[in-house]
Amino acid sequence: MPLPKPNLYPAFNIVRLSHVELAVTDLARSRAFYVDTLGLQVTDETTGAIYLRAMEERGHHCIMLRKATTPEARDLGFKVFSDEDLDKAVYFFKGKGLPVEWVERPYQSRTFRTRDPHGIPLEFYAQMERLPPIHQKYALYKGVKPLRIDHFNCFTPNVDESVAFYNELGFRVTEYTEDAATGKLWAAWTHRKGGVHDIAFTNGIGPRLHHVAFWVPTPLNIIDLLDLMATTGYLPNIERGPGRHGISNAFFLYVRDPDNHRIEIYCSDYQTVDPDLEPIKWDLKDPQRQTLWGAPAPKSWFEEGSTFAGAAARQPDLTASPIIAP
Ligand SMILES: [Fe+2]
Repeated sequence: MPLPKPNLYPAFNIVRLSHVELAVTDLARSRAFYVDTLGLQVTDETTGAIYLRAMEERGHHCIMLRKATTPEARDLGFKVFSDEDLDKAVYFFKGKGLPVEWVERPYQSRTFRTRDPHGIPLEFYAQMERLPPIHQKYALYKGVKPLRIDHFNCFTPNVDESVAFYNELGFRVTEYTEDAATGKLWAAWTHRKGGVHDIAFTNGIGPRLHHVAFWVPTPLNIIDLLDLMATTGYLPNIERGPGRHGISNAFFLYVRDPDNHRIEIYCSDYQTVDPDLEPIKWDLKDPQRQTLWGAPAPKSWFEEGSTFAGAAARQPDLTASPIIAP
């Protein structure tokens, strides 16, 4: 399917991705990973949950860890421009026959949950409690010095369908991978905020959460994290990288949290605010697509992901496969 034309005037205005809730089985173990190792700041902590933000963020949280018996990914949060946009969003999702449920979320104004057509749970809100800036409180910078949440990447059983839906929401494709044999999309990177992506889609058993990414100041912070993880018991949690992506040109590292949720540490992609920016096409078999330096991703990277709460994952419609490390 050809890429849809960018929708520059969507029915409502999404500002950016905002936050994610992850169900984890042991909060103390997760705290050691997200706070003591990655360096996120705790903004609230209860017996059942930990709220975290990164150093540049003024909003109360970008990730919420919730104690549960089974690890899973819960809502992907998006911020809309205004309360009026929130009402327009409700109208839009109801018009698509998708579920709309108002929910109470601490630190957030009116929030509703819905699901995309494949079942990815989404939540939308307009205002989150603001916290004092800490981006120049360098004494607080720890671990990999995470600055902000950057993007979600999700497995989907049909990338063309996902791109069509999110395009309608105003997400614009910056880069994409096409299967030459069928002309179908194998992956796509789509944005609202002016970077390479707020949410990307990868062909695979889905819907599932592939990873959540955090932006860090420089590649050297990634090297420091590797030194830290390799000497504090987290060696098995290092999954892929460090490297430079072909797609997005960003420097990356993929690590797994104690429940196997995948976290990407990411920096230095490029600006994409031009409304007429031409999407960059990649061939699925191009060895520089995944890693500019040529190293293929491991099998786990293509197969493993976090189940979304209440969503039944299915096999993808497209069976094409990229180059995978043995
Ligand atoms: Fe990513």
